[in-house]
Amino acid sequence: MFPQRRMRRRRTRHIQPLLREICLTKNDLIAPLFVNETISSPRPIDAMPGQFNYPINGIAAVASDLWNRGIRAVLLFGIPKEKDPEACSAYDAEGVVQQAVLRIKAEVPGMVVITDVCACEYTDHGHCGIVGEGRYGLDLLNDPSLELMNRIACSHAESGADIIAPSCMLDGMVGSLRAALDDAGFEDVLIMSYSTKFASALYGPFREAAGSGFSFGDRSTYQIHYANRREAILESQMDADEGADILMVKPAGFYLDILAGVAELGLPVAAYQVSGEYSMIKAAAERGWIKEKEIVLESLTCIKRAGADLIITYFAADVAGWLDEKQ
Ligand code: PBG
Ligand code: ZN
Repeated sequence: MFPQRRMRRRRTRHIQPLLREICLTKNDLIAPLFVNETISSPRPIDAMPGQFNYPINGIAAVASDLWNRGIRAVLLFGIPKEKDPEACSAYDAEGVVQQAVLRIKAEVPGMVVITDVCACEYTDHGHCGIVGEGRYGLDLLNDPSLELMNRIACSHAESGADIIAPSCMLDGMVGSLRAALDDAGFEDVLIMSYSTKFASALYGPFREAAGSGFSFGDRSTYQIHYANRREAILESQMDADEGADILMVKPAGFYLDILAGVAELGLPVAAYQVSGEYSMIKAAAERGWIKEKEIVLESLTCIKRAGADLIITYFAADVAGWLDEKQ
């Protein structure tokens, strides 16, 4: 074809912005926030420079600041003062997430409030639901944990959450939650399922952030092994069939092939750029080895290119500012 087709023509500096295929916008971004019931002023998370645990009485201001930067959705994680084997504080009407939702909705009514529905921050053993003796020893018990998730989700919905995001990877989780929400009159509350969630070493820094490390075993009996693509797509397919409104792939950056596959299922897809992805970028940027802004915009744009409609990222606030600069 050369010299008729010269690809470099389209890369002329003033032409190329017109031909960009993917454009990251603030509407794509969801900011995760950690609300901690045991503190009274923001506490930095060592392993995640720039991220904090916020006290309940400071969370509305943080949401309001994000709103003013153009961020339209937050994902809440709670760190309670009491933990026990059954995660009772997770469905307390006055629990940490419930109070945070109320305060954010009162201060910034337009903010889409998404709540993580899981038990690992609320159990003393640190697993994502009810633990007991299974056929092969101590393990997360599936069916008994479903009832717990229903209670947590309904209490989040009761306090005003727009979207609940179950992250425990239980079988039958989405169907069970949909029925429970509908029974309680919350037909309009969406379910954003952590439908394809891998057992990943990239969650390391999160365990410090959310105080959710486990006391025995690991999560490999409920989260997917990173080697398994077909299994990963099937997990999202099943959640779609059970009535999920939004699917999710987590982590994001190492899993772009999975994201592309899940995006074909026909539902909106969120990708979660997790704590380890954040911390790796931060650590290298702090040493001057990479350029933070460039690499973050590249990583998020590529996640969108692979098929994500929404991206959950700890960089959300920074990116909002950088997108403004670009205009
Ligand atoms: C809890 C949960 C985890 C993350 C989100 N929800 C940790 C885990 O499953 O071990 C990880 C988020 C991150 O690393 O940023 N189920
Ligand atoms: Zn969990």
